[in-house]
Amino acid sequence: MTRFPGEAHEQPIFSVGQAYWNQRQRLAERRSELEQLHEAVGHPGDLWLCQFAQFYATALEFQPDMIVELGRGWGNSTAAFLAAIDALGEGARLVSLCRSREWRTVTRRLLEDMKPEGWFEPLEHVEAEIPTIDVKGRLKGGKRVLVLWDAHGYDVAEVVLARIMPMIAERPHLVIMHDIQDDRYHRAPARLCEEKGIWRSHEGHQHHIKIGHFSSAVEQMISALDFLTRNGAHLESADHEIHREIASRPEREEEMKRLGGLYGEACWCYFSLNEVSGPFTFPKWRG
Ligand SMILES: C[S@@+](CC[C@H](N)C(=O)[O-])C[C@H]1O[C@@H](n2cnc3c(N)ncnc32)[C@H](O)[C@@H]1O
Repeated sequence: MTRFPGEAHEQPIFSVGQAYWNQRQRLAERRSELEQLHEAVGHPGDLWLCQFAQFYATALEFQPDMIVELGRGWGNSTAAFLAAIDALGEGARLVSLCRSREWRTVTRRLLEDMKPEGWFEPLEHVEAEIPTIDVKGRLKGGKRVLVLWDAHGYDVAEVVLARIMPMIAERPHLVIMHDIQDDRYHRAPARLCEEKGIWRSHEGHQHHIKIGHFSSAVEQMISALDFLTRNGAHLESADHEIHREIASRPEREEEMKRLGGLYGEACWCYFSLNEVSGPFTFPKWRG
């Protein structure tokens, strides 16, 4: 659970589990739209349908005026956030940063058969190496910022922690981190290093680092945990919150199961500096 500026710290105001539960009606109403979008993107392994629904519900509940997507790939998260912006109807923007071309060359064309021109308007699609992009200029207008951190490696970590976080630390914000699982809830245990030696860097999803109850195959888990520890903040587990708010309450879980594939495990985490008071410490930008 995380808290926003001006809120008493004993009164947490955000939880992914609560968001998922609170938005169940909207998820039910938009179920076929979300299923069709996810199917049209055609890469369900990059973001499962239930994760697609969780990102959508988180955006609806948090109500950002700006979403920054780091790592678009084929565009699952892009489509989930555009659908959420459309449902919110309040003129939020989506700034999508990635080197990949597939949104422009493939996915957008497929979605254009399903959605009117105006549905795509909130999107600023940037195709470049993330460390070379002027993120500071793009973040200036955002008052309530949701970040998806789904591009791997220390160079992107440096952009998030040294460039983006100093700009949004004092504004309401959430940073969603894909590809980090909470081993207390995940069915497949983290693959550890007994066969492969110590973990040094991302080598595909067969080799995981494990710190506390989190595990991941990607570098940014280390950077994020280091950053959060220095600032007295925490990595929050979407699965833990979903367990507390839904899975441990049979009547709620029964209702969520009626959403079919829109309900499931998360395998992602998030954080916000809003849960602690500053002053904050940020790494130096060496870009
Ligand atoms: C895991 S995929 C993103 C998946 C996407 N969020 C989805 O929901 O389908 C990560 C993407 O980030 C891109 N990427 C990784 N490092 C990058 C960098 N330094 N600059 C730009 N793009 C990068 C990869 O090429 C890939 O397209």
